[in-house]
Amino acid sequence: MKTYIWTLPTRLFHWLLAVSFGVAYLLGGDEEYLSLHAALGSLIGGLILFRIIQGFSGPKYARFLNFPVSPASVREFILSMKRSKSEHPGHNPLASIIMLCILIAALASAMSGMLILASGETGMFGIRIRTGFDPDSLGELHEIVANTFLALVGIHLTGILVDTIFHPANGTILSIFTGYKKVQAKEAVSSAFHSGFSAFWFVIPLLVFIYVLKYQPIPAGEKDQTEQVKEENEETD
Ligand code: HEM
Ligand code: HEM
Repeated sequence: MKTYIWTLPTRLFHWLLAVSFGVAYLLGGDEEYLSLHAALGSLIGGLILFRIIQGFSGPKYARFLNFPVSPASVREFILSMKRSKSEHPGHNPLASIIMLCILIAALASAMSGMLILASGETGMFGIRIRTGFDPDSLGELHEIVANTFLALVGIHLTGILVDTIFHPANGTILSIFTGYKKVQAKEAVSSAFHSGFSAFWFVIPLLVFIYVLKYQPIPAGEKDQTEQVKEENEETD
C-alpha cells in the first residue's frame, strides 16, 4: 500500500536545499566565488523562510504540529526500533528533532553570512550594519555555524541509513524522490492555497539568488579594488 506523504513543494525544497548547501559549503572561503557562495546562501535563507511558513500552513506531514517531538514519542520510537515498520508516516521522532535543528542551523548560517557582508563595504541589500565585532570574529562565527550545519547533515544521512536498515518496509529513501511511502496512513493533500503559496514562495528565494549573484559583495575588512587603487594613489601623491 503506497501513501502520498511528501508533496512536490516539500521535495523541491529538500533538493534545492541539499544541492545549494553542498555547493555553498564547498565554495565557502574561496574569494573568487564569493558572489555565487553568497547567492546560494541567500537562496538557502529564503528556502528556510518558505519552509517555516509551510510548517504552519502546509499539507499534513509538512506541518510542525505533526512532528512527533515529545519525550514520550521519542522513547516509544527508540523502544520499538526492532519492529520492521515504523508507525510514523511523516518524520519519525528522532528525524523530526534533526529536521528542526537543520532548519535553525541553515537559517543561522545564512544570517551570519549576511552579517559579514552587511558590515562590509557594499553592505547587504543596500543595508550596512555596525556590529561592533571585528571581521575575523564574524567570519569565525559563520564558519562554526556552517560546520554545525554540516554535522547535522551527517547525522541526518546516518539517521536515514539506520532507519532504512531497521524499517526497510517503509521505503523512506525513495519517498524524498517520489513522495510516496509504503505505509497505511492518510494521504497528504495539496490544496489550491498550498500550490499558490508554494509557487509564490519559490519565486522569491530565486529572485534573491539572482539579485545577490549580480551584487558583487565585499566582505567586512576588505575594500573595493577601485577604492584601494584610489587610496594607494592618494598615498603616493
Ligand atoms: C545537504 C544535504 C541535505 C540536507 C541539508 C537535507 C535536509 C533535509 C530536511 C530539512 C528534511 C526535512 C524535509 C521537510 O520536512 O521539509 C529532509 C528530509 C529527508 N531527507 Fe534530506 N537532506 C540532505 C540530503 C539528503 C540525501 C542525500 C538524502 C538521500 C537520499 C536525503 C534523504 C531524505 C529523506 C528520505 C527525507 C525524509 C525523511 C523522513 O521521511 O522522515 N537527504 N532532509
Ligand atoms: C547558508 C549556508 C551557508 C553555508 C553553509 C556557508 C558556509 C561557509 C563556509 C564553510 C565558509 C568558509 C569559512 C572558512 O573556512 O573561512 C564561508 C565563508 C564565507 N561566507 Fe558563507 N555560508 C553560507 C551562507 C552565506 C551567506 C548567505 C553569505 C552572505 C550573504 C555568506 C558569506 C560568506 C563570506 C563573506 C565568507 C568569507 C568569510 C571569511 O573569510 O572571513 N555565506 N561560508
